[in-house]
Amino acid sequence: MRMRRKPWARPELDACGFYIKDAPSLIGHWHEGFARKQPLHIELGCGKGGFIAVTAAENKDINYIAIDIKSEVLVLAKRNIEREFSFADTPIDNIKLFSFDIARIGMVFSEEDTAERIYINFPNPWPKECHKKRRLTHPRQLESYCAFLKDGGHVLFKTDDDELFGDSLEYFETAGFSVVSCIDDLYENGIPDGAAVTEHERMFYDAGLKIHFIEAVKDERGNATKATEE
Ligand SMILES: C[S@@+](CC[C@H](N)C(=O)[O-])C[C@H]1O[C@@H](n2cnc3c(N)ncnc32)[C@H](O)[C@@H]1O
Repeated sequence: MRMRRKPWARPELDACGFYIKDAPSLIGHWHEGFARKQPLHIELGCGKGGFIAVTAAENKDINYIAIDIKSEVLVLAKRNIEREFSFADTPIDNIKLFSFDIARIGMVFSEEDTAERIYINFPNPWPKECHKKRRLTHPRQLESYCAFLKDGGHVLFKTDDDELFGDSLEYFETAGFSVVSCIDDLYENGIPDGAAVTEHERMFYDAGLKIHFIEAVKDERGNATKATEE
């Protein structure tokens, strides 16, 4: 996603109460930073945040963390969140945002930061062989999520990319997840009314592309995979 430079993005984020400037300093303590102790869901590569803004405003009994590497898109996520919570007339007390490279996610979350669910929506497909390790569903990445995803926790993944979809099915298996749902054409019958969709999801759907979906559950092999590396 090419974005125009936004020199105002970082100052606007720094002034935002739900933006976390120094995410690694909160490792092991993320649950304490929310108004209520309740399940945690994390979106990796949230982009402009259209999905997480609607989802978090509608589900005040869940805490959310949204992460993206680019301040230029996170600042738009911040504005989307403010707008959705304002429409819903509810305080912004169940969502945090931060800018970070997910390849180094082990620096920000530990097993104390237990998450019930991870969303990975339309990540960069990285088609070249030499770049595949950068995929957010690469086994090396999935194994790093096992450190904070609870046993029985879910990863919900969507993509328009056929090759990434096929490869990711194998990646989940390799990393110790069980695939519980795999849908080739999620919106074969159209997008359901009121569904929270991401910016890329809407764009790809409108362009006539299939939206592929995988839901995978971390099973005991997820821990075993991690243990063999230690
Ligand atoms: C194709 S966009 C999809 C954005 C959004 N999920 C959607 O569906 O509209 C991929 C997003 O992932 C972010 N991203 C890619 N690699 C990342 C990484 N290693 N760490 C954090 N964010 C990353 C990009 O900055 C971009 O915003």
